[in-house]
Amino acid sequence: METPHPDRPLDVIAVVPPGLEEASAIELAALGAEAVQPLRRAVACRTDLAGFYRLHLQARLPFRFLRELARFPCRGREDLHAGVQRSADWQHWLPPERSFKVEASGSAPGLSHSHYSALQVKNALVDLQRQHWGQRSSIDLDDPDLVLHLHLGTPRGGGGPWGAAAEAVLSLDGGGASLHRRGYRAAMGLAPLKENLAAGLIALTGWDGSVPLADPLCGSGTLLIEAACMALGRSAGLEGGGANRPGRARSFALQRWPDFDPILWQQEVEAATALARDGLADGRPLAPIVGMEAEAAVLEQARANAAAAGVGPWLDLRQGDCRNFEPPSGAAGLLVCNPPYGERLGDGEDLEALYSDLGRMAKERCSGWTLWLLSGNPELTGALRMKASRRIPVSNGGIDCRWLKYELR
Ligand SMILES: C[S@@+](CC[C@H](N)C(=O)[O-])C[C@H]1O[C@@H](n2cnc3c(N)ncnc32)[C@H](O)[C@@H]1O
Repeated sequence: METPHPDRPLDVIAVVPPGLEEASAIELAALGAEAVQPLRRAVACRTDLAGFYRLHLQARLPFRFLRELARFPCRGREDLHAGVQRSADWQHWLPPERSFKVEASGSAPGLSHSHYSALQVKNALVDLQRQHWGQRSSIDLDDPDLVLHLHLGTPRGGGGPWGAAAEAVLSLDGGGASLHRRGYRAAMGLAPLKENLAAGLIALTGWDGSVPLADPLCGSGTLLIEAACMALGRSAGLEGGGANRPGRARSFALQRWPDFDPILWQQEVEAATALARDGLADGRPLAPIVGMEAEAAVLEQARANAAAAGVGPWLDLRQGDCRNFEPPSGAAGLLVCNPPYGERLGDGEDLEALYSDLGRMAKERCSGWTLWLLSGNPELTGALRMKASRRIPVSNGGIDCRWLKYELR
């Protein structure tokens, strides 16, 4: 049985929102990951323990990072049982006083239901524990010490060292829970975007904080808050982005692993904290960030969220109708928005009129600006009466959407 050594390169899979694979690959490479390869809804990369900590503290786009323990051919239940038992030094990783849970995805011969596959992994581990200790770990679905992930499928590139047989990849989930929950969003408006999707949409616009950014239908403010955090170096894995209580990291499952290195972790926490600043990296001030929201209560949530994220002072959030939006004077900037599109919100409202008025407002008042709009309904975007210059497919909570770019002349 092999123990993953802290200095050994770690093979990691970042699970990312569909459509953000390339943007996530760029982000991971910028954080020092190597051998970065976009996959479907995921990015493969290699890093070391310090890099793995850095990814958890600073990456904004992934849902989770999976650290590979073992990869083995899997022709059925018996291969899975034996492969799991050989995957790691379980005496080190999983003594019986530690709780765990198993998540599974994909399929292999005789293992087509994820729940059943996860159960097989659990059985393999508790069988081994009973042999060693005469006792077994308990399963904790809410706050386990170890979150294991099994993926079954065809090897990458169609064939691994063992040919085209299905393979199993057993990994540890470093976050334990989805990383999109940054912790600043106690309050959520109607149909909010997930924080990592909002960060990814902003990354796709290429906005760097030097020109104004406005969301005339800002809801609970997720696009603007993520944008401000990016521009002001507020790390996603720190409470308040590192601004309010410097150096307080959120809690991650990897801190309970037996190879957790507190000194290395503290170095990475300090490095992530040191990125927080009050202006752009080159010393220029952050350009205006403006939000408008029709519902007073939702606007209050946006303000509370911005304050909790440590970027409140940089956001100008106002109550009002997007039809009355006035862009800040000066340089042309970016309009971003995620208007209601009927799937979850606004059914029965005259959404076509809203889109038509939004298009008119943008053309009349924001000439020279760029509009990025998240659409889940092509009929409604037709009412804008503009031709998109880019259409990027993304998925918003399972709804097939397009992140549409319009040049406002
Ligand atoms: C899909 S939500 C936006 C969610 C936001 N991106 C977030 O993450 O919280 C659309 C928002 O537009 C607001 N809205 C609808 N009609 C509006 C209008 N005419 N002017 C301004 N806001 C409006 C709704 O109240 C809602 O909060």
